[in-house]
Amino acid sequence: MSLADRMQYADFQSRIMTADEAARFVADGDIVGMSGFTGAGYPKVLPTAIAARAREEHAAGRPFRIQVWTGASTAPEADGVLAEADAVSLRLPYNSDGATRKKINAGEIDYLDLHLSHVAQLASYGFLGHMNVAVIEIVGITADGLLIPSTAVGNNKTWLDEADKVILEINTRLPMSMEGMHDIYYGTALPPHRLPISLTRADNRIGIPYLRVDPKKVVAIVETSHPDRDNAFSQPDENSRRIAGHIIEFLQHEIRHGRLPARMLPIQSGVGNVANAVLDGLLHGPFQNLLGFTEVLQDGMLDLLRAGKMKCASATAVSFSRAAYEDFEKNIDFYRERIILRPQEISNHPELVRRLGVIAMNSMIEVDLYGHINSTHLMGSSMMNGIGGSGDFARNGYLTFFVTPSVAKDGKISCLVPMCSHVDHTEHDSQIIVTEQGLADLRGLSPRRRAQVLINQCAHPDYRPMLQDYFDRACKQGAQHTPHLLGEALSWHQRFLETGDMRP
Ligand code: COA
Repeated sequence: MSLADRMQYADFQSRIMTADEAARFVADGDIVGMSGFTGAGYPKVLPTAIAARAREEHAAGRPFRIQVWTGASTAPEADGVLAEADAVSLRLPYNSDGATRKKINAGEIDYLDLHLSHVAQLASYGFLGHMNVAVIEIVGITADGLLIPSTAVGNNKTWLDEADKVILEINTRLPMSMEGMHDIYYGTALPPHRLPISLTRADNRIGIPYLRVDPKKVVAIVETSHPDRDNAFSQPDENSRRIAGHIIEFLQHEIRHGRLPARMLPIQSGVGNVANAVLDGLLHGPFQNLLGFTEVLQDGMLDLLRAGKMKCASATAVSFSRAAYEDFEKNIDFYRERIILRPQEISNHPELVRRLGVIAMNSMIEVDLYGHINSTHLMGSSMMNGIGGSGDFARNGYLTFFVTPSVAKDGKISCLVPMCSHVDHTEHDSQIIVTEQGLADLRGLSPRRRAQVLINQCAHPDYRPMLQDYFDRACKQGAQHTPHLLGEALSWHQRFLETGDMRP
């Protein structure tokens, strides 16, 4: 469908222009809110035009750097091109782009890692500064001037509300028939006027299918026809299958013991290999009529929906491989009834996660003997991606799983360590830890009992004696609530930095 067919609102005709022309509305020092979440729904051409503008200004000896606020990760043609042009002074929140990561870790881009449910309200409270421009991908505009969202909603509602100027990218590659899939809730007033959110099931709709924008703020409309990033799907490896097996067995065990309803509770699943393996396990498991209440919907959940095992999935974005995207597009009428895309402040809302009783499953980088979790940092200082929605779901979930292979880098790193080199989720927020070695159910265990269960169930055999030795010696000296040898607690990380191996 052409741009003319997608833009029904006559007033905007005169504002159609090229990306280069639209980029002139962005100035040095601006705060720019961009659409985009987990490689979906990000602007495809404006970032390149802004990057070109930055290069032009730099060549003329003038500064040009902007703050980039998104929903979550975007793609090389958004975050990547801007980072490479040295056009970014600050980036928030979650990022998985390599070029941006490099600059964050070199100290050249300031990075704010925020809980994804918090971002919209922190912006609305005014805590983060005033937004100058919003650059938002959509698939069309109705005759009434309402915006049909694309493959990610993220923080778009808030960016459109907060920004002084709005640039819309209409993507003619994405299906207009997504219209009706979204549920944009406009009830999040600021305290003290905020009211309860009336969503009582993961498959409820409580908003409208469109984003609103004040037409006076729309300064440019740009056409694009690029697909979302190919979020390549790899078949689960052996470790992921084993981790998934432990989780499925545990869920069945909980149902048998009456601690989990037989028809299950809504599922949140993080991104990546293990998450897809768990979803694959559910596909072949005994569960029926599942519901998803998650932030990003990947290939694995699409499989569950197609097979009729899952009735409905609520998320803020879809993030597919090429093959899954083709299926999504071809069968859009089927999926529109079964997928609900919401703003991330709703998809990840802590109160909803707790009330609906979501089963949260997230990957991590490392866990320590007492169940503290590091989701974000390598060796204490180097940012990987960010906390994403893991905290929104982990603290509030009915059941909270954190998963990782027991070792990384061909066994040179143990992912169970005496003390985490960075903590994102404390012992108070973690419940069930799973590696390919086994599953440690930490619920109801005091710190010392947690440590022994983790060593027994989750440690890799190469590291189990080292962990036991550390723990035994810590149990012979000092206070005994959370025994530690402080001088040694981070020595494994230090050894890795010095020798390339945590083992002596
Ligand atoms: N110490 C140092 N490096 C480690 C490590 C550890 N304990 N564990 C893993 N790594 C390295 C891996 O070797 C790999 O390095 P490489 O890129 O050089 O190959 C890298 O970290 C990523 O590990 P991988 O096993 O490929 O993990 P993944 O793709 O499953 O991602 C997280 C794991 C934790 C990085 C990812 O899930 C994440 O960003 N989580 C935080 C956000 C979140 O949980 N969101 C959930 C809501 S959707």
